[in-house]
Amino acid sequence: MKEENSLNDMKTSVLFVCLGNICRSPAAEGIMQHLVRERLLDDCIEIDSAGIGPWHAGELPDRRMRSHGEAHGYDFCSRARQIRREDLACFDFIIVMDSENRHDAMAMARTDEERRKIRMMTDFCRHHDGHDCVPDPYYGGDRGFELVIELLEDACEGLLDHIIETHGPQWAAHI
Ligand code: 4NP
Repeated sequence: MKEENSLNDMKTSVLFVCLGNICRSPAAEGIMQHLVRERLLDDCIEIDSAGIGPWHAGELPDRRMRSHGEAHGYDFCSRARQIRREDLACFDFIIVMDSENRHDAMAMARTDEERRKIRMMTDFCRHHDGHDCVPDPYYGGDRGFELVIELLEDACEGLLDHIIETHGPQWAAHI
């Protein structure tokens, strides 16, 4: 989902945010999309990703992120874009990968409601207690990209269950 103003009121919307939008957040978008499809929730949940910085706008995810994703059965194919102030108002959840992303997103928020939407990805992990961020893999090696996928798979499962618990009743009311 990349079109502006396409958010549907009935749907719950999630924006994943990292620094460049070419490694962690497009991977989170792809993994979450995969889970949402598996659970037949396409009509209920809308997913997108964005970067704090503008440097990679229009690009596909980093080649290393794509190939690690493919090895796990994912197709990471969204085009990078920079986060916009309106995103904070439009999306229901703004999920950031590390504390720098959180700091930068918080600085864009204008209301307490917007600030409450900003959550750390690792807060939804159920099997990785020792991790308080999804580390930036850009300047590292293969292990960093594998760790990103491992943490994101855990966190996406936890986040999806949280969304179903908190927003499921809202969808049911519109079916
Ligand atoms: P991401 O990784 O935030 O997970 O997309 C990065 C991608 C690019 C850069 C830094 C981090 N960069 O400096 O260009």
